[in-house]
Amino acid sequence: MNALVVSVGEPDIELASDALWAIGVVAVEERVLVGGAIELWTSLGDDTESVTEALADFGWPWRFETIDETVSETWRLHAAPVWLADDLVVHPQWVAAPATARPGTDLIAIAIEPGATFGLGDHPTTMLSMLALRSVMSADATVLDVGTGSGVLAIAACRFGARRVDAIDISPASVPTTRHNAEINGVADRISVSTTQLADVDGIFDVVVANILAPALIELSNDLLRVLAPRGRLIISGILAANHQHVLDALVPLLVVARGERDGWTAITLQR
Ligand SMILES: C[S@@+](CC[C@H](N)C(=O)[O-])C[C@H]1O[C@@H](n2cnc3c(N)ncnc32)[C@H](O)[C@@H]1O
Repeated sequence: MNALVVSVGEPDIELASDALWAIGVVAVEERVLVGGAIELWTSLGDDTESVTEALADFGWPWRFETIDETVSETWRLHAAPVWLADDLVVHPQWVAAPATARPGTDLIAIAIEPGATFGLGDHPTTMLSMLALRSVMSADATVLDVGTGSGVLAIAACRFGARRVDAIDISPASVPTTRHNAEINGVADRISVSTTQLADVDGIFDVVVANILAPALIELSNDLLRVLAPRGRLIISGILAANHQHVLDALVPLLVVARGERDGWTAITLQR
């Protein structure tokens, strides 16, 4: 198995970790070497060609290291369910679904096996996006999930009532992982997942969700506008609460209708 190892200076640890999360890693281990140099160890799967492509513009030096598979799996021992509301929880597939936190309510429990993708439900941007999705969802809505990762938001959309979800990601690992997760959550018949580029997506959607970093949102902005139905809602996240006006500028004429914030991140809901 290949580990991805990134060398960073101390001031850049958080920034580099966030950049790794955004391209799909599941867990990052920080190692301080003799002499004080810092390395971030993680994995994006064994498709070295796709990983190299995804890291083409990565801002820090990186390399692959071959590692013992059992070591790379230790994070699984610590993965836990994440509650987003009293009646909404995302749990690792290998951890039993918890009982409802509020007796008498119907619990929505979403099981996720992230594999080599991003999306165990525990990142602030995923949590914010999921809550925003829930608040805009109407029965029978059509949804486009741009940067689906493990499919966690696509599955949530189905559980909130979406009729049909198209899920896309540039990472090939997302396709089998999202299919598997859709199946174990009983929504495979409503989710279609692929590595189709947003520019090649036809049709319009009632809800579009894109939890990706700001530069990617800006690059995709014309297509995000194109695929949004006239009265549709666009949810964007992966952006910082303190610095995202440039992303909103790229999405004019959409107007902000709701915002959520958590740990310095924000998710914003827009409409025409
Ligand atoms: C932060 S993760 C979000 C995963 C999941 N939607 C969630 O909320 O947990 C961002 C995902 O966007 C994908 N991505 C990055 N740029 C993209 C692009 N231009 N088009 C489609 N997917 C992209 C990455 O591969 C990664 O899986």
